[in-house]
Amino acid sequence: MTDTAPHSHYTLERPEEAEDPQTIYRELRDNAPVARLAGRATSHTLTISRHEDVVSALRTPEVFSSDSSAVEIGNTRPLVPLQVDPPHHSKHRKALDPLFAPRQMAKYEPRVRELIRELIDAVVEQGHCNFHEAVAEPLPSTIFLELLGLPVSRVHEFVALKDGIIRPPAGSMEERFQKVRATGQKIYAVLEEVVDARMAERQDDFLSTIIDAEVDGQPLTRDDVVDIGYLFFLAGLDTVSASLDCMMAFLAQNPDHRQRLVDDPAIIPHAIEEMLRYETPVPTVPRITASDTEVSGCPMSAGTPITVLLGSANTDERVWDRPDEVDFDRESNRHLAFGGGVHRCLGSHLARMELRVALEEWHARVPDYRLAEGLELKYSPGIRQVDNLELVW
Ligand code: HEM
Repeated sequence: MTDTAPHSHYTLERPEEAEDPQTIYRELRDNAPVARLAGRATSHTLTISRHEDVVSALRTPEVFSSDSSAVEIGNTRPLVPLQVDPPHHSKHRKALDPLFAPRQMAKYEPRVRELIRELIDAVVEQGHCNFHEAVAEPLPSTIFLELLGLPVSRVHEFVALKDGIIRPPAGSMEERFQKVRATGQKIYAVLEEVVDARMAERQDDFLSTIIDAEVDGQPLTRDDVVDIGYLFFLAGLDTVSASLDCMMAFLAQNPDHRQRLVDDPAIIPHAIEEMLRYETPVPTVPRITASDTEVSGCPMSAGTPITVLLGSANTDERVWDRPDEVDFDRESNRHLAFGGGVHRCLGSHLARMELRVALEEWHARVPDYRLAEGLELKYSPGIRQVDNLELVW
């Protein structure tokens, strides 16, 4: 079966494309709802961009599989539960969901508030900061290492390892894969060391709880715990930082939106959902077809790697009214920034709480801020982080 997807000159890998992906998404939806892009990674895959097709792919894991061949992120065994397809998937989620339930996450809110206040204290008098370095990176990384039970004193080492997988240094595809695989081995070594220590002696942390969890009446193996930890390591250390970057970059450039958060902090949860929709910090998720299929009239054979464009679905004018307008009063906002279907984000309640507390505290202390003079924001491709987010106030 040969696909008929048109080739596109877009890559979704260039920094300038990551800055304004919405324009590219619109062109793809209108002219090539299934396309083959020109990027180093994207040229191996077919992109799906229309909301209807994206939702359908997320909801049919038996056709659009998440098995580990869908993406190269340095792991040698499937990440649990992300790369486990149904029916086993739901057994893992049943064990993990209670850990990340809203009521559980609410317990950590005082600690998140304490930490963000400390981080703001460190910069508030100086009148400027690199927001990514001062707040967006340390806040979720510290909280997540504390929750999981990894040593916070090694945060810089862990962030560098996570970046080595998510944003590997440029080079040929083969060189990137080699570096990603080498970094993956280091992540396994760190996790094995901590998991072994917790197996010998439990502590009050998530790893200890996971070690004692049962799936289908059976205790998890050491490998299972490490494979869960590997996914958490990537998901917990990156996504909230990237989301905070995207939101603060948006607010710094849109003073009316920023002022609304200052005047009416109660609107912050709505603002977060709307900025998650428009920015979609995790803009794509990978799949691989498990059988021959067809999307928007384009045939696909089994084994085709797919890039599902969540960001495009979140701005598709076929389902969204005024999709390019960021409207904090939007009534219905069933966005796909946390994915959809069985693999919908496990950490969404933690993420929402961290984002809300961070925006509440920041706007109470630093209400009037803007981008540094002449700054050109640099969005990283893939997960949309903004490393150079220099703010002044
Ligand atoms: C704003 C921040 C976050 C965003 C935008 C986000 C986004 C996503 C998305 C789009 C998926 C679906 C992946 C797929 O379908 O292939 C996902 C899954 C997942 N996320 Fe998040 N995430 C965030 C924060 C977190 C945090 C803090 C954790 C911490 C544990 C986390 C853990 C997970 C896990 C474990 C999965 C896999 C769930 C499964 O396969 O059943 N996420 N996330």
